[in-house]
Amino acid sequence: MTPLLVMTVISLLFGIHMVMAIGGADMPVVVSMLNSYSGWAAAATGFMLSNDLLIVVGALVGSSGAILSYIMCRAMNRNFISVIAGGFGGGAPAPAGAGGAAQPAGEVSPILAAETAELLRESKNVIIVPGYGMAVAQAQHTVYEITKLLREKGVNVRFGIHPVAGRMPGHMNVLLAEAKVPYDIVMEMDEINDDFPKTDVTMVIGANDIVNPAAQDDPTSPIAGMPVLEVWKAKTSIVMKRSMASGYAGVDNPLFYKDNNRMLFGDAKKMLDEVLAALRA
Ligand code: TAP
Repeated sequence: MTPLLVMTVISLLFGIHMVMAIGGADMPVVVSMLNSYSGWAAAATGFMLSNDLLIVVGALVGSSGAILSYIMCRAMNRNFISVIAGGFGGGAPAPAGAGGAAQPAGEVSPILAAETAELLRESKNVIIVPGYGMAVAQAQHTVYEITKLLREKGVNVRFGIHPVAGRMPGHMNVLLAEAKVPYDIVMEMDEINDDFPKTDVTMVIGANDIVNPAAQDDPTSPIAGMPVLEVWKAKTSIVMKRSMASGYAGVDNPLFYKDNNRMLFGDAKKMLDEVLAALRA
């Protein structure tokens, strides 16, 4: 009877989460938790069928999912218990133009690849913030080439990595390591966040939610309270993406409209290739 009871509870938890409205920023944690539940359900089935392998594999999936959920909760400043209870960030993001957090807050200033190269060349300190778009564009190798070139010219280039940048833990670290970016210039968010005011140029490559100031400034935002990389504190920030589309959380980003921000529109790989060519010219 006990395994049956466990499975019923797990099914109920599944049901509760499926009927809940989940805020965009909470979704990765919930997905990871559902993954964990599936492991526990498999383990419970293993007990019912007296299948040791199913119990062990189920427990492994369940516990690793629970650990990952806990790590992501901490990274996003969310409370593990309230995620289980579904009592936070439940509202859907405010629709654009409805006066909520998603309303575009002004005009953006575009920049060209050649101008970006010029700004980088004149800088002493540069921080690169990669996000999901860098992975989509497979731009990490060009990022490395640009980093190498700038470092040879004496520019202090470092990377700022948000704990939930991309779509899986360590996503950016793996891509940068694959491109042979030296480990000692790849910094965690907490290590580098205080350095933005001393930075000439921040280059945001296909990132959006992880650099959204609304997380700090707008208590009604679905991502309110999530720690973010404070790229807008640099002298100039350059955001590289294809359009004004929102990121995973589905919210507008006030960073784009800041006076010291420029938008380099286009596929990250294509734009970085142009920046690299301009730097080499
Ligand atoms: P996002 O907020 O998803 O933003 C990525 C941006 O990349 C998009 O706005 C998109 O804009 C741009 N992009 C896509 N393809 C591109 C391309 N080819 N070239 C240039 N830009 C491109 O990503 P983020 O800032 O890395 O934040 C991660 C988000 O994912 C967070 O909300 C996090 O909670 C969530 N999440 C994380 C994980 C883990 S564990 N890392 C797991 C699940 C979910 P355009 O369409 O305009 O180009």
